[in-house]
Amino acid sequence: MYPLRRNRRLRANEAIRNLVRENAVTPNDFLVPLFVVEGKGIKQEITAMPNYFRHSLDTLVKEVKLLWDLGLKAVLLFVKVEASLKDNHGSEALNPNGLMQRAIKTIKNSCPDMLVMTDVALDPYSIYGHDGVVEKGQIVNDQTVEILAKMSLSHATAGANFVAPSDMMDGRILSIREALEENGFVDTGIMSYSAKYASSFYGPFRSALDSAPCEKDNILKDKKTYQMDCANRIEAMRETEMDIAEGADIVMVKPGLAYLDIIRDIKNEFDVPIAAYQVSGEYAMIKAASEKGWLEHDRIMLETTMAFKRAGASLIASYFAKDIAKLIG
Ligand code: PBG
Repeated sequence: MYPLRRNRRLRANEAIRNLVRENAVTPNDFLVPLFVVEGKGIKQEITAMPNYFRHSLDTLVKEVKLLWDLGLKAVLLFVKVEASLKDNHGSEALNPNGLMQRAIKTIKNSCPDMLVMTDVALDPYSIYGHDGVVEKGQIVNDQTVEILAKMSLSHATAGANFVAPSDMMDGRILSIREALEENGFVDTGIMSYSAKYASSFYGPFRSALDSAPCEKDNILKDKKTYQMDCANRIEAMRETEMDIAEGADIVMVKPGLAYLDIIRDIKNEFDVPIAAYQVSGEYAMIKAASEKGWLEHDRIMLETTMAFKRAGASLIASYFAKDIAKLIG
């Protein structure tokens, strides 16, 4: 008891603070999300994501090499699909020569040790902007799962190290795992978006990929029939438990900062690595406030990423990864 214990002794100077610090953020912790588009020489800044870009395959190669040199050794790929290639079943997602498949090969050819993770979901390919097939205004589960398994197989065939299903259909991890096993991709990992919430933080991402759920034909405008209700906590455990049982190697909580309690709950209960996704809206908020001079960009960036580590995440998918690696490298 006081004065025998004075907690400030361990905060008295930088040396002692460094010695007793419980968590650290390093470039090893990060997954770098990358947006890929068709074309040549393209590096387009994304609205509401200042200093973040869509890349065509040629500029992507340069970016990936730069990331590697900064010590960032894992990327998470998303593609912006041409409107003319979209349909209700995401058929283009299975094209062995589609943009995603070419992006995987391009990265593996130019930077073979870069860990490549790929987004698996129908929304960028869907005319309705939904993560599944739409029938009679509903998102159909099992038919979607079959497509997701084929899509995962296609990514593995192209050379992906991990597939990352972000769709929240029931049973998709098992189907994907079985498809991979049956086809000999026993070393291809699955990072499951296990606790993914129906969040308003995804806005800038959806405009980056032109993938917002649409308002036509009386189709659901939101993703609440498959993504989780932000009021729920116990449900996240059920989702995570099932995904682990079905064969997920890594589980993810998304969004990040508003869901740190979920990361900690999962950390306390399960023994698989947890990924946190600091999503586009979180990035946008920090950028906007610091552009106004209301927040100190770099400090906020480091503080929020440290929060993910403290909460229990091993991996952090973040649009700040490159800035952080440059800062702490
Ligand atoms: C879609 C997907 C989304 C994000 C990642 N994968 C958007 C959504 O679910 O509508 C959001 C990422 C971000 O906001 O940074 N499957």
